[in-house]
Amino acid sequence: MTDRLTIRRPDDWHVHLRDGAMLAHVAPYTARQFARAIVMPNLSPPVTTAAEGIAYRDRIRATVPADLDFTPLIVAYLTDHSDAGEMARGHAEGIFTAAKLYPAHATTGSAHGVTDVANIMPVLERMQAIGMPLLIHGEVTDADVDIFDREAVFIERTLAPLAKALPELKIVLEHITTAEAAQFVADAPAHVAATITPQHLHINRNAMLVGGIRPHAYCLPVAKREHHRLAVRAAATSGSPKFFLGTDSAPHAVHTKEAACGCAGIFNAPYALESYVTAFDEDGALDRFEGFASEHGPRFYGLPLNEGTITLERGETVVPDRVGEVVPFHAGETLGWRIV
Ligand code: NCD
Ligand code: ZN
Repeated sequence: MTDRLTIRRPDDWHVHLRDGAMLAHVAPYTARQFARAIVMPNLSPPVTTAAEGIAYRDRIRATVPADLDFTPLIVAYLTDHSDAGEMARGHAEGIFTAAKLYPAHATTGSAHGVTDVANIMPVLERMQAIGMPLLIHGEVTDADVDIFDREAVFIERTLAPLAKALPELKIVLEHITTAEAAQFVADAPAHVAATITPQHLHINRNAMLVGGIRPHAYCLPVAKREHHRLAVRAAATSGSPKFFLGTDSAPHAVHTKEAACGCAGIFNAPYALESYVTAFDEDGALDRFEGFASEHGPRFYGLPLNEGTITLERGETVVPDRVGEVVPFHAGETLGWRIV
């Protein structure tokens, strides 16, 4: 039995660090675990121009203690009015690592998102031409589509036609939650990949609804049935370079989660690696953890692998009930791995 695991320093390919006081509170947790992170741009107002990207990057850097050696990677938020030239310039200047497609009103901070992919085709064509990755929140928003079906329907109605129309576009389907998503990505060409969160490896929809309504297990895309969790887990532990770590850590103050209309988002940053490695261990896949956490992401993005290592060992990590004003994922539980 492996009791200690030393891996190359990992990265988080999808995280919400927020802004202002919340940024200052949460960014150090991500910086302690990860060398780099793809930071989501769904602020209010969102990060849409290169100048806003630079300013946000500076605000993030200012909150992270220098000894943590952390690099935030900034993403442009696509709207119906995004300009192909602005995206291409931002990418060429190293400000925008990628651009994010939020279908309008799909999730937290998506009110300025794209109402119809047809509106951004010139931008996507330019991104394809320059090799700039498109990161996708893959859910339809149609009122007649059941919330638990929104990812699968998005793949059928939007993603499959898009990938066909732009056959060279680099795409990351973010935070996948269904067997359909895992299958779509596995069957797609090498430049189509997916991120996977710790919560979607550990919980199915019962975690939200059995024995009472549990707002801290609510995020978007929402956790699905058990067979979907197992399919997502199989993808994560498969060793396929198409699947990599993206926490989707999304902090909301406790009073905005425990409310009549609670916010979507799970804050998993403080114990993300302990959570992921526990899942890989349960599936006998510890030998595949380094690929998922530290290699597949940089290779997809065309970035160097990190130097340096991090060591995890079997041992107790007691997750507290609160981290400041935020309830963390696994609150009150004890995980079987710890960071050395
Ligand atoms: C995210 C947030 O709070 O910004 N929430 C979530 O449930 N994941 C937005 C998102 O990624 O959907
Ligand atoms: Zn997210």
